[in-house]
Amino acid sequence: MKKLQNKHIVLAISGGIAAYKSADLARRLQDAGASVRVIMTESAQEFVTPLTFQALSGNPVVTAGSAANGMAHIELARWADLVLVAPATADFIARLIHGRADDLVAALCLATGAPVAVAPAMNRQMWENPATRTNIQLLDQRGIQRFGPAQGSQACGETGYGRMLEPQELVEQCATLFDSGRLQGVSILITAGPTQEPIDPVRVITNLSSGKMGYAVARAALDAGAKVTLVSGSTCLTPPERVKTVRVQTAQQMFDAVHERLDDTQIFIGIAAVSDYRVEEPAQSKLKKSADTLEIKLVKNPDILASVAARNPRPFCVGFAAETDHLEDYARKKLEQKRLDMIAANLVGGETGGIGTDDNALLLLTPHSKVELPRAAKSQLARQLIEHMANHYFEQKNPA
Ligand SMILES: Cc1cc2nc3c(=O)[nH]c(=O)nc-3n(C[C@H](O)[C@H](O)[C@H](O)COP(=O)(O)O)c2cc1C
Repeated sequence: MKKLQNKHIVLAISGGIAAYKSADLARRLQDAGASVRVIMTESAQEFVTPLTFQALSGNPVVTAGSAANGMAHIELARWADLVLVAPATADFIARLIHGRADDLVAALCLATGAPVAVAPAMNRQMWENPATRTNIQLLDQRGIQRFGPAQGSQACGETGYGRMLEPQELVEQCATLFDSGRLQGVSILITAGPTQEPIDPVRVITNLSSGKMGYAVARAALDAGAKVTLVSGSTCLTPPERVKTVRVQTAQQMFDAVHERLDDTQIFIGIAAVSDYRVEEPAQSKLKKSADTLEIKLVKNPDILASVAARNPRPFCVGFAAETDHLEDYARKKLEQKRLDMIAANLVGGETGGIGTDDNALLLLTPHSKVELPRAAKSQLARQLIEHMANHYFEQKNPA
């Protein structure tokens, strides 16, 4: 099987001497089954022409000049399953680390929900410089994938670390990011984001969930080969193209959308932050400011996760628990009370809370196991979660 079959890879090229190898890389990524689209920095075009990559990829290359009339880099950011920056210059890595968006490639890296991988390529002294060392440490801490560099002779005549990995090695590294297709053909239903409960036509009760974790898990499941349906509350995120997305507003709508799809679901992952209560009778017209106090009567919403787990037959059920304290105790209680197969617990509130942030730490519990996933980018945590979940799912399905 072609390792990168149907994957959308944005090959971003910055201005290093290794840019000439990226032509070969573009070819080899396509040979491995990927669709490749190319974006180049201004200086990259000093080394290789966009025409080369247009001819090789069969698609127009995005450059500052070509994008003058459009939002081509944003469109590419949404299209990507992976952004691979190869070569990544010292200067580009510094810009990436500081969240700069002063060129199209850096802007694309900020704008994408896909994993970003960099293949550093530079002179040995540049690689060893303390400024670069600090930037690389930050890169690694943030969970940005780094492929290489390798050691060897360099274009500048020196020998040492700084060589870009060879194109075939980069293709192999990209393939590892997309897992092994362990969940090939498995149907997974995921809920994500916050729900909104109307108070009147213009006001809602909601929460601070951004949906980032749920969307990252949807992408990781897709990369593992699953057929993914995402039932999403209101977020400003764009789901990956191949995820079937159902948009809902309230907890009841989410409940209905989930239950309508359970017959075809083998794994259910409830990540949405669902409102426990809704307004009993939302006002039909906008409430006016009058009395000093206002009472709104709330009634309990259905518990989506518990209702899915209570079905017979039921899918493999994974829940999320956001707690401000006693993380393991409360999460284990929820696991047992709702009869889940697995729960992913995270601390919220305070400085390190996982709501709305780009990184998080998770505690994974099953009835008989416990695994701690240390703080990392949500995209990376999502892949680890899917890996552990797949192990338990197949263990349960095919007991030894
Ligand atoms: C001939 C030549 C070769 C270069 N090779 C590299 C290189 O291999 N790695 C690197 O980090 N910078 C290299 N540079 C410096 C970058 O081109 C420079 O930092 C540029 O601003 C990077 O721009 P970009 O990151 O927007 O593409 C080279 C410069 C020249 C003139």
